[in-house]
Order: sequence, then C-alpha cells, then structure tokens
Amino acid sequence: MKRALITGITGQDGSYLAEHLLDMDYEVHGTIRTTTHDIEETRVGHLLSTDPPRVKIHVTDLGDSHSLMRLITDLRPDEVYNLAAQSHVRASFDQPIHTGQVTGIGAVRLLEAIRQEDTSTRFYQASSSEMFGATPPPQDETTPFHPRSPYAVAKVYAYWSTINYREAYGLHASNGILFNHESPRRGKEFVTRKITSSIPRLLTGDQEKLRLGNLEARRDWGHARDYVRAMHMMLQHPEPLDLVIGTGESHSVSDFLDAAFAVVNLDWSEYVEIDSQFYRPTEVDYLEADISKAAATIGWKPTISFEELVAEMVTSDLEAHGITA
Ligand code: NAP
Ligand code: GDD
Repeated sequence: MKRALITGITGQDGSYLAEHLLDMDYEVHGTIRTTTHDIEETRVGHLLSTDPPRVKIHVTDLGDSHSLMRLITDLRPDEVYNLAAQSHVRASFDQPIHTGQVTGIGAVRLLEAIRQEDTSTRFYQASSSEMFGATPPPQDETTPFHPRSPYAVAKVYAYWSTINYREAYGLHASNGILFNHESPRRGKEFVTRKITSSIPRLLTGDQEKLRLGNLEARRDWGHARDYVRAMHMMLQHPEPLDLVIGTGESHSVSDFLDAAFAVVNLDWSEYVEIDSQFYRPTEVDYLEADISKAAATIGWKPTISFEELVAEMVTSDLEAHGITA
C-alpha cells in the first residue's frame, strides 16, 4: 500500500485528492494548521467521521521547518503533494510577506525535509497559471513567466526551487502548472463560488446586490475533480516533469455570470454592482492553457465542460438552501 502526504488537505484540492487516492487504496495523511478548529466541519470532515477515520491528520504549518521535518521522518511517505498555500491572489497584496513565507519558502521547507530524510519520496508542487501573469495566451510549458501579484511571485520561487531540487539532488519533484479549477467545494472568496453562492441568497432576498470587480478578466476554468487526477498521474510518470493542466478554453467573468444566472433564468445585470475594492493593483487579463504536453506525456485530458461545471456549482448552492433548480 502506498503512503501519501497531502499538505493543505482541508482545501478544495486536498479534499478531492484525498478521496481520489483512497479510491486507489493509498494510506492518506494530511496536514492541518494549528489554527484550524473543528476539523469535522472542514472539507474532509466526511473522511474523519468514520471509525476508523479514512485519513490521518497531522498538525503542522508550512512556516515551521521542524514540524515538517519530523513529519517526513516519521511517515517516510512515498508521495508528497504540496497543496498548502496562502492561495488568494487579492489577499497576497495585503499580506505579501506572509504569502512569500508560506506559498514560496514553505515549499522549500518541505523539499529540504525530503532531501534530508529520503530522496526516493516523490514530490508534487502546486504551481499556478498565475505565474504566466501578463504573458499573452495561449500559455504552455515554454511560455515565459511574468507574475503580477505577490502570490504569483511566491509560486515562481517555489516552481524553480522544485526544479532545483530535482537537478541538484535527483529528487522526483514535479510542477503541475494548474489553471483555475473550481467545484462546489471552492472557497467563497474566489469569484466563481462567490457568484454561485450568492444566487440562492439573491433569490430569497437575503442578499440585495452582488458586488464584483473586473468582469473582463478571462480564465481557463476547469473542474477540480479532473485536476487532482492529473496530480496523481504526474507522480506515476517515470521521470519528473512540469506540466500545464487546463481545458484550452477561456471565459470572462461576465461569461461565467451569463452561464450561472441562466441556470435560474435571471438577468445578472439587475443584481451585479461594480465595486472598486475587488480590483487588484495589477491584474492577470487572459489565461488559456495549451495542454498538448500533458496529453502527450501522461495522457491526461479534462472530462467536465465549463457548462457542466457552472451548472453543478449553481445546483449545489441552490440545494444547500433547499431550492431546486
Ligand atoms: P485552498 O482551498 O485555498 O486550500 C489551501 C490549503 O492550504 C488549506 O488547506 C489551508 O488550510 C492550507 N494552508 C494555508 N496556509 C497554510 C499554512 N501556513 N500552513 C499549512 N497549510 C496552510 O486552495 P486550493 O484551491 O485547494 O488549491 C490548492 C493548491 O493549488 C494551492 O497551493 C493553490 O495555490 C494552488 N493552485 C490552485 C488553483 C485553483 O484554481 N484552485 C490553481 C493553481 C494552483 P486552512 O483550511 O487551515 O485554511
Ligand atoms: N475573487 C474575486 N472576487 N475575483 C474577482 C471579483 C471578486 O469579487 N470580481 C472580479 N474578479 C476577477 C479577479 O480580478 C480575477 O481576474 C478573476 O475574477 C478570478 O479571480 P479569483 O477567482 O480570485 O481567482 P484567481 O484567478 O485570482 O486565482 C485563482 O486561480 C489561480 C490559478 O490561475 C486562485 O485559486 C489561485 O490560488 C490560483 O493559483
């Protein structure tokens, strides 16, 4: 039985990846921060309420080298998926140093623990399409990075550190350069879930307006369930690699509004107000993945369309309010 460690198991991706690895009979371990309370209420609560729990939880923080080292020494995992991060782009402008510490240097703390303990452990780094930033689409593995936020700068640091540990110490260390991926488990601070979670409240009158920022930004939005499959496939490849994972389709925020409000036959322009607080000091205008390399090397492709993704998210949020679409 293979043993995997997922940092950030309480996040959107961590929870789907845990389920995916359990389906493949992995022994799954995950990290939570000391600040995470009431673990049963998190996205992995359903994996902990069984007897015995289906995943094993360890308390650590990507800011704390010693606890990471101890964890790697105790577990000696076959595979480590580094999904933990301060992952919100807008928030990174307010907390640039914290974001650098966690999202950037945090990856090195983990790589260093692996290097010192067991270099046969395979390592996945959650890299991001945000690294491409201002570089025009389509973006692939050869596209130059031009990060546009403290978050993206930190991810570029972690990306190159992953490659450096591969080249310097022979680690099987890979970067998944993932474009935006969403689901009903997406945090409500990200634009897609902010929209879909507002729809039932707008319908019931609990919320009057939906305040958003830049509606012109374009993203390549896929489904998180598809993307965690790619993470696992990358670590099964004989050689470590850096792969762009996306859908190859780009939509604007207003396209997302069109699709989401169409599910409930409402006109979003009657509800949406533009609020400058949701604009960023520097924006990423246009992301669209070229996934040729992922298709050729690991045979990955997405299975869930943009329309299916939006419908699933809206329906799930409506159901949570007892409303049928
Ligand atoms: P998410 O839902 O925001 O989850 C982030 C996870 O990191 C949470 O479990 C969080 O714990 C944990 N975390 C935050 N700060 C930490 C710290 N100091 N020490 C340890 N853990 C910490 O993110 P996601 O959408 O699942 O994304 C997973 C990873 O992929 C992230 O690294 C993200 O930057 C990257 N990524 C995401 C996308 C996307 O579109 N979703 C695309 C490209 C790359 P709490 O539960 O305690 O907050
Ligand atoms: N969050 C948010 N809130 N974004 C808004 C809003 C709003 O009210 N209004 C417009 N937007 C625009 C943002 O300016 C951005 O252009 C776009 O919607 C998407 O914003 P987010 O959903 O916050 O995602 P992101 O693209 O900045 O970052 C996500 O994807 C990255 C991959 O490209 C995060 O998951 C990152 O962690 C990830 O790396």
